[in-house]
Amino acid sequence: MPATGAKPLGTADEASAAQAVRQMFDSIAPRYDLLNHVLSANVDRLWWRRTARRFQPILAIPQASVLDICCGTGDMTMALLKLRPRDSQPILAADFSRGMLTRGALKFGAESRASGSPYAIPLEADALHLPLKSASLDLIVTAFGFRNLANYEAGLREFNRVLKPGGQLGILEFSEPGGLLGKAYAVYFLRVLPAIGRLICGPVSAGKAGPYSYLPTSVGNFPPPAEMLRLMQSTGYEQCSWQTYTFGIAGLYTATRPLVV
Ligand SMILES: C[S@@+](CC[C@H](N)C(=O)[O-])C[C@H]1O[C@@H](n2cnc3c(N)ncnc32)[C@H](O)[C@@H]1O
Repeated sequence: MPATGAKPLGTADEASAAQAVRQMFDSIAPRYDLLNHVLSANVDRLWWRRTARRFQPILAIPQASVLDICCGTGDMTMALLKLRPRDSQPILAADFSRGMLTRGALKFGAESRASGSPYAIPLEADALHLPLKSASLDLIVTAFGFRNLANYEAGLREFNRVLKPGGQLGILEFSEPGGLLGKAYAVYFLRVLPAIGRLICGPVSAGKAGPYSYLPTSVGNFPPPAEMLRLMQSTGYEQCSWQTYTFGIAGLYTATRPLVV
């Protein structure tokens, strides 16, 4: 049966799933960057940069309106900002965890405003109910956030609503590599990674299971690429594609809102 959305342990419906996800990210926010860089050996930096480069033609247009949804502590936003020209329209960087967003705002916020350098505006918002006008964005990017939405179909429909016709979507997500590498990676992902996560984060800070037990479970429950591409097509996108990064550990979904429906 196709997956409908994230279901953290002990949650029964979409509202409680979203609340559990938000609380988890609020609780790990102070250590999120450290955890990320330790657990990924900094490969995540390459993934953010590669994703930003994929959308370079849009980012180079000063008037382009860009949203980084589920921006967290802002590293994807920073990679996007590097490709924006001076005096361009600020990027909107949105997240529903205030703890994560506050830390992000320290990196991408208003300090650059006066100097004319590209900057982003932090926005506390739920990806499933964006406080944005329909057909108002040229580009939506989300990095390692989509998997956490309580309803994937609703998320894709909401992104489609706020994208302009011809606007583009990029979803950077973890994936499960196949073959021998997949087996070795599964050991790291299911055993080593949660243990390191508990060590750095502490077991109490984010519930009994800890956020890094949630991470492998949520990746395992996420629709595989073929299913995700079908879901993107059925929610109104065209030119849907999937490109793997680093032996399939992660990858980028891209899609376009059609010019004519
Ligand atoms: C794994 S972090 C990724 C953060 C950042 N994009 C990065 O690449 O490091 C996932 C983020 O998604 C946010 N998130 C999850 N569900 C969300 C929702 N429904 N609306 C807004 N943000 C959400 C979480 O609060 C968290 O900050």
